[in-house]
Amino acid sequence: MCCRKETLETALTNRVEYILREHYKTSPFNIRVRKKSSGLDSDVYLCQADIGDDEPIRLYTKKSRKERPSMKHEYETLNHLWDQYYYKERQMTVPKPIDYWEDGEMLSVERAKGSRLSTILGYEGLPLLRWFYYTDLREQMNRVANWLAHFHSFTRKTQRISFNEALQEDLENVILQWPPALSLMQIEKCATKLRDSALSLDTAPHIITGRHGDFDPDNIIISADQTCVIDFAYFSFGTPLLDVANFMVTLELHSTPFHTMSFHNLRFYRKLANDFLVTYNSTADLPFSKDEVNLYRVLKFIRALGYAKKALEMDPGKSLQTSPRALLQRLQSMYATQQIKSFLEDDDSGKKSFDK
Ligand SMILES: Nc1ncnc2c1ncn2[C@@H]1O[C@H](COP(=O)(O)OP(=O)(O)OP(=O)(O)O)[C@@H](O)[C@H]1O
Ligand SMILES: [Mg+2]
Repeated sequence: MCCRKETLETALTNRVEYILREHYKTSPFNIRVRKKSSGLDSDVYLCQADIGDDEPIRLYTKKSRKERPSMKHEYETLNHLWDQYYYKERQMTVPKPIDYWEDGEMLSVERAKGSRLSTILGYEGLPLLRWFYYTDLREQMNRVANWLAHFHSFTRKTQRISFNEALQEDLENVILQWPPALSLMQIEKCATKLRDSALSLDTAPHIITGRHGDFDPDNIIISADQTCVIDFAYFSFGTPLLDVANFMVTLELHSTPFHTMSFHNLRFYRKLANDFLVTYNSTADLPFSKDEVNLYRVLKFIRALGYAKKALEMDPGKSLQTSPRALLQRLQSMYATQQIKSFLEDDDSGKKSFDK
């Protein structure tokens, strides 16, 4: 075990040294590698290197734990976004892609300065100060909504897709990606219910755009003058509503106790989510109704449930007392299950939730 770790750190260090010589034309010394986070199928390392008197160079390197085509997909997506547009827009960015190493299954990007939005929401959660900080958090929601509307507008295509078709397509994708989420019977029920609700809404077709695919406060880095969105592993094309609903539901899920953001209650997050939607709608090419968002949020609950089930399956040894992450995942999966259940049982669920 210890040897494997050493080999990985040596491989990472060697690669970073190579990257810095090749891309930055510099001779690095004192390279430090530190594990930053562990996802379901990848680990992320912060790699720092000194380069003389200048500030150290900091890269984030994502290392796949198993064969993972999405690493290449993420690199290609970032390259495209960076080349085409984002390097010009200093305020709304993506991280600069630096290196993709196929053999080592590693992707390196430049560090974005700032704090994760999830951390910002967490800091400012002391109950007594909740409403005092609300104005500031609302400002963060505006920035995030503007980033997203801008991104959708930049990646838009000329094709359109009906709301019902988009829903069915994204439902299939989410089930493919997270098969443990629902039983076959539940999937069929969901598909029928979503289709009937979508048809009864009779909305205009949606413009097809690029979607980030995992747009949530963990993947948004904010500093005084910049909003940077990271982690494009799930980038795809389809209705931009997927990202909008994803972000709104993640806020809702994070009101589950034991999360860093848990000082706030559900009502507070729904209010922020509504602010986000208002700003998004005022900037985007196509505004979304709350009914449309409410139908799409079911997909995010399925995804959250699939993620939680897979994560708990992978980590069966850890008891709930010793792993707060496992506890959080269990709580979120209970909440997601409840939401899916009430959607399936309720006759008029499209009109609920965000209207309150
Ligand atoms: N370019 C970057 N700048 C600043 N922080 C970063 C950057 N890339 C990654 N991080 C930090 O590392 C964490 C994990 O990175 P990332 O979101 O790319 O991977 P992940 O969520 O583990 O991957 P996956 O979505 O495949 O599970 C982020 O939440 C963030 O704190
Ligand atoms: Mg992430």
